[in-house]
Amino acid sequence: MRIALVTAIAAAGLDDDLAPLAKALTSRGNTVSIVAWDDPTVSWSRFDVALLRSTWDYTERLAEFLAWCERSAQHTRLLNPLEVVRWNTNKRYLADLERAGVAIIPSHFLAPDQAPDSFPDFAEFVVKPCVGAGSRDTQRYVAAQRDRAVAHAKRLLDAGRDVLVQPYLDQVDEHGETALIFFNGVFSHAIRKGPLLQRDGSATAALFAPEAITPREPSAAEIDLAHRVLTAIPGGAPLYARVDVLPSSEGPKLLELELTEPSLFFEHAAGSAERFSAAIELAAAADTRESKR
Ligand SMILES: Nc1ncnc2c1ncn2[C@@H]1O[C@H](COP(=O)(O)OP(=O)(O)O)[C@@H](O)[C@H]1O
Ligand SMILES: [Mg+2]
Repeated sequence: MRIALVTAIAAAGLDDDLAPLAKALTSRGNTVSIVAWDDPTVSWSRFDVALLRSTWDYTERLAEFLAWCERSAQHTRLLNPLEVVRWNTNKRYLADLERAGVAIIPSHFLAPDQAPDSFPDFAEFVVKPCVGAGSRDTQRYVAAQRDRAVAHAKRLLDAGRDVLVQPYLDQVDEHGETALIFFNGVFSHAIRKGPLLQRDGSATAALFAPEAITPREPSAAEIDLAHRVLTAIPGGAPLYARVDVLPSSEGPKLLELELTEPSLFFEHAAGSAERFSAAIELAAAADTRESKR
């Protein structure tokens, strides 16, 4: 197959997953090109598959990105598919998952027409944009800093962005975050990500905040939660899914579900790039059978 690994001009050289994935796909006989979604000179019909990878700047230009997804999907097989990407690029999907019975971190959503202070009092909490990645514009506050937090929410709302307010789950400080990675619904590997938000920190201005990653063996409860999440995805588990969970006194809770452009941390799990390559071929073959019916 001719496979495009899709990054962004702004992410050039930053995606550690591209080299191991290109190597694994190539060794299985595929032809691989690394291309940017926002490079207007790319002819997408050259590829059998356009695999979304590090399109990390979509958060600042969502309408443009989704329009590109729509156009490219007419010329090649976009993975994950357009409908999945549309649903997953706004953290309001958390509300859908909660309705489906998934244990999410309690989440209060604000829209630009709502008051920026219309969220409950928490001892410690997080304000973040609903369309966001890499911890950008995300900050942690204590109750005494509510004014600053409301001003932060207002700034985002005034810019036309939806906002999400959650209690800060402080077990992350010790235990870290667990990211569980699945290919075609089958568990592949997991990593631990260290805590990212300082109490008096400011939001990162970079494309993503620096992260401390180590391999992790997920607990049975984390695996169980992740499977519940996958089952609740409209349309079922897609080609790739990263389920990020935080510990709490009531067990693990879903922080976010990454179906668009998650880092997959191949270098932390031997054989994972090869497993993903096999899964890509399987997904593409299944799609081809589907379209011939
Ligand atoms: N409710 C929360 N409790 C504790 N830490 C949080 C919470 N929300 C976010 N964080 C921290 O902020 C980081 C970024 O938030 P996240 O929801 O994953 O957004 P994104 O990765 O899309 O920017 C997380 O990896 C975690 O370290
Ligand atoms: Mg995250």
